[in-house]
Amino acid sequence: MAFIEIRELSKSYWLHGKRIDVLRALSLDIERGELVSLVGASGSGKSTFLHVLGTLDAPVAGTMLVDGMDVLALPDADLARFRNRTVGFVFQSHYLLPEFTALENVAIPALVQRMERTAALRRARVLLERVGLAARVDHRPGELSGGEAQRVALARALVLQPLLLLADEPTGNLDPVTGEGIHQVLREVNRDLGITAVVVTHNEALARSMPRRLRLAGGKVEPA
Ligand SMILES: Nc1ncnc2c1ncn2[C@@H]1O[C@H](COP(=O)(O)OP(=O)(O)O)[C@@H](O)[C@H]1O
Ligand SMILES: [Mg+2]
Repeated sequence: MAFIEIRELSKSYWLHGKRIDVLRALSLDIERGELVSLVGASGSGKSTFLHVLGTLDAPVAGTMLVDGMDVLALPDADLARFRNRTVGFVFQSHYLLPEFTALENVAIPALVQRMERTAALRRARVLLERVGLAARVDHRPGELSGGEAQRVALARALVLQPLLLLADEPTGNLDPVTGEGIHQVLREVNRDLGITAVVVTHNEALARSMPRRLRLAGGKVEPA
């Protein structure tokens, strides 16, 4: 059985009385430890798919097994716990809190989960070192470059040791060279921590550098 088994997943939005079918009976298997890039035209549903996969949004139909668990059947409280424990998110914007240092920003999800402060800060420091920011732990977001801020966001997404990392155009605001640096870190994290990752990107060259490449079109995924 695959780590993630998605079957006949459909998602529609209703807007001004009109239905927009975004995902149409999408089926997909992702093995544990895979690193997958996802491309597709703007508006093809990449963000929608990532949100549904990360259980931030519910589909209208279909099933999704993660590690054999039928996550869409979970009660809300269990679903929130699943999301916290299993999924890490990185978005196009870093959403770091401006008044906290890089170290504190990375530690915050662990502190929210009531991890002891010294342990949370220690773990945050290890992750910042892993993403190449050992020298920036005391910088606030306004004192970081765009690429550095995105590395902090990546470290924050990893602090609760997720099994699944979902990144939605994490390099969308960055120049190509800085973006390649982020993808390099994603590849390292996937390789060294064994985290399964799905990375949405507009950059075809970066997408091609991933071991498995998918395209979202017509509400379904296909090999890219
Ligand atoms: N909350 C929403 N309400 C209505 N339509 C939406 C909503 N979110 C996204 N859409 C529509 O769904 C389609 C897919 O959007 P999205 O998943 O953001 O695409 P992508 O990330 O590939 O650019 C688009 O046509 C978009 O306009
Ligand atoms: Mg999007």
